Parts: sequence; C-alpha cells; structure tokens
Amino acid sequence: MFKLAPSILSADFSCLGQQVAAVEKGGADLIHVDVMDGHFVPNISFGSAVMKSVIKCSSLKFDVHLMIENPDDYIEDFVTDKTEYITVHQEACRHLHRAVQHIKNSGIKAGVSVNPATPVETLTEIAEYADLMLIMSVNPGFGGQRFISSCLKKIEKLKQFREDNGLGFLIEVDGGVNLGNAADIVKAGADILVAGSAVFGSDNIEKQIMLFKSIF
Ligand code: DX5
Ligand code: ZN
Repeated sequence: MFKLAPSILSADFSCLGQQVAAVEKGGADLIHVDVMDGHFVPNISFGSAVMKSVIKCSSLKFDVHLMIENPDDYIEDFVTDKTEYITVHQEACRHLHRAVQHIKNSGIKAGVSVNPATPVETLTEIAEYADLMLIMSVNPGFGGQRFISSCLKKIEKLKQFREDNGLGFLIEVDGGVNLGNAADIVKAGADILVAGSAVFGSDNIEKQIMLFKSIF
C-alpha cells in the first residue's frame, strides 16, 4: 500500500488549517511541505514559521522538502516532534553525506531528492544512509505542472537498485501526480506519492483523498 502526501503548496493559504484538517479526515498519510528560496528554484513559497503554525491543525507527520541552497544551514528550523522526513536536493548539497548525517543526528529521517535531469546513479553512494529517495517528476518550483513520463524509468531503476543491494529507503515521487497516472507510478515502484494541485484543486478535498487512496 502506498502512502499519500498532499503538498500544501497548492492549498488555499487563507484557510490552511482547515485544508490540512480535510486531508487528514480523507485519509492522507503525511503532509508534504515544499520550502522554496527563490535561488535553488525560481519561486519563493514559505518557511518554517508556516509549518510550525500548521502542525497544530493536524495529528499527521510532516514531510519537509527543502528546495533551497545551503539546506544544511536550515535543518534545525524544521525539526519538530511532528517532522518525519527532511529531504534535501543532491544538486544543492556540496557535502551531501554531511547534510544527511546532520538530519539524522537531529532525530529526523533523511531524504535525498534528484531533479528530472539528474541520473539516479548519482544516488548510489548515499543510498545506504538515506531513509527516503525523492524522484522529482517535474522541474521543481511550481505546482500544477505536467508529469515527465521518462521519470517512470528512473523509479524502476531505483527500485531495482534497492532490491539488488538489500537497502530499505522509501521511494517518493513528486510532481504532476494525479488520479490518472498514480497507479502507474506506484507500479513503477513509488512508496509515497506527493500530490498538490490534484488534491487541493478539488472542490471536495476529503473525497479526492479517498479516491486517491482507493486506486491501488
Ligand atoms: C514542486 C513541488 C511539488 C509540487 C507538487 O516543486 O516540490 O511538491 O507542489 O505539485 P503538483 O502535484 O501540483 O505537481
Ligand atoms: Zn515537493
């Protein structure tokens, strides 16, 4: 069974608390928090203050996706008793192993993400230290983009690599996930699906989560 992590990037920020409560009621597994700095990606979203407010509105755990330069400098800001994962980008870390250790030493599970043009092979050396690998299936920065279908091959490759090496990290897929492609993405090997616009763009968020959860 896969897990669903709705991204609050596409939520209505004027009623963020209610929207997070609705995804929890519908059966979401994690809340995905997209942090953007306007440097690593061409957009600015929000920082830890927003997350720390929103965690009061849900009993779910949080999945923090840092799309920022120098993520190592900001890890502590996102450490809370509801933070399950903090994910950094391979492309943003000069010392990726150090960043991963920093997250784990803070008592949080560590994720590593790669952009669509970055080969999964660049993850082989960090794989044994990571709890999560996040395959970006759009170029990060914005919600509502189209899924890049060649990323399915990357997911399959990563799953095979995990099997061949007896490793235990989870595979998360983020970007352009919707009710039409979710089953194929899970079949390719995703353990966690992130969905932003496909969840929060719906008139009935709770029902939309239930539809997602019933596809597999
Ligand atoms: C993209 C973010 C995603 C995004 C997903 O930079 O990391 O989490 O918000 O949004 P959708 O599901 O609309 O592609
Ligand atoms: Zn994300």
